[in-house]
Amino acid sequence: MTSNEAPGADDGASKVGPLPFDVTKAHQARMYDYYLGGKDNYAADRAAVDEHIKIYPDLVFTMRANRAFLGRAVRYLAGEAGIRQFLDLGTGIPTAGNLHEVAQAIAPESRVVYVDYDPIVLAHARALLDSNEAGATEYIDADLRDTGTILSQAANLLDFTKPVAVTLMSILHAIPDADDPFSIVAMLLDAVPSGSYLAISQFGEELMPAKAREALLGSTRRTSLQQYTSRTREQVARFFDGTDLVEPGLVPVEEWRLDPGAGGEGKSVYWCAVGRKR
Ligand SMILES: C[S@@+](CC[C@H](N)C(=O)[O-])C[C@H]1O[C@@H](n2cnc3c(N)ncnc32)[C@H](O)[C@@H]1O
Repeated sequence: MTSNEAPGADDGASKVGPLPFDVTKAHQARMYDYYLGGKDNYAADRAAVDEHIKIYPDLVFTMRANRAFLGRAVRYLAGEAGIRQFLDLGTGIPTAGNLHEVAQAIAPESRVVYVDYDPIVLAHARALLDSNEAGATEYIDADLRDTGTILSQAANLLDFTKPVAVTLMSILHAIPDADDPFSIVAMLLDAVPSGSYLAISQFGEELMPAKAREALLGSTRRTSLQQYTSRTREQVARFFDGTDLVEPGLVPVEEWRLDPGAGGEGKSVYWCAVGRKR
């Protein structure tokens, strides 16, 4: 095993670099697509999700609440926070409310760099490149753990002397502790100036009862290409070292700056927060 592989890796899933295209195993991007009602998924993805929902039905609510959090966070960043540059890691298959659409609806000049390592996201990347004229978007086919390469390619579109919002929505639980996600996030934050933002959502250890979590991770070991690591609220807070959290701080995704009159439909298993770099 090299330092770039997670313990237990025997199928190449945790090697750094683009994922293989494999329809016999569930992929995170395609499972998420199925959760959100999309059509870019295969039988293995649907079977894994169906099994996961049987174990923990609120996963459906979680995925939808996560996507809604992404929308509210980007509206906050482009609106109140005045951010015009975004680096989005773990973009997923394009769907309603892609980040550049949300940001450019508020600030048409917004520039967005998308990053993912799944070939199915690359295959659909054209939908992410459909920027309006005033702004720009770019897609980088890369593994988050190849952080240095991502930062140097992103510099072709983003000006790293000006504030950037770094968004890591529902991706860090796919990075095992062995690959040191804390150093990856620290490296991303180091690359952006003071006044930049970090937004994260991540599978929360305390948000799902231990028995369900063990069953879920056991199912994932059998069915899925990627494996997941839940993290405690305290661990998620560590990602935000060097930032000040904007209100309401670190909360489940469905509680972050809810639109008036919304909410109360369920409980997610994802922590989230948005922090401003000091
Ligand atoms: C659940 S989707 C989230 C999509 C979107 N960020 C959202 O929250 O709506 C997570 C994405 O992260 C990608 N991903 C997971 N591990 C990655 C890695 N090491 N490098 C790049 N992308 C990764 C997956 O391929 C998938 O498309």
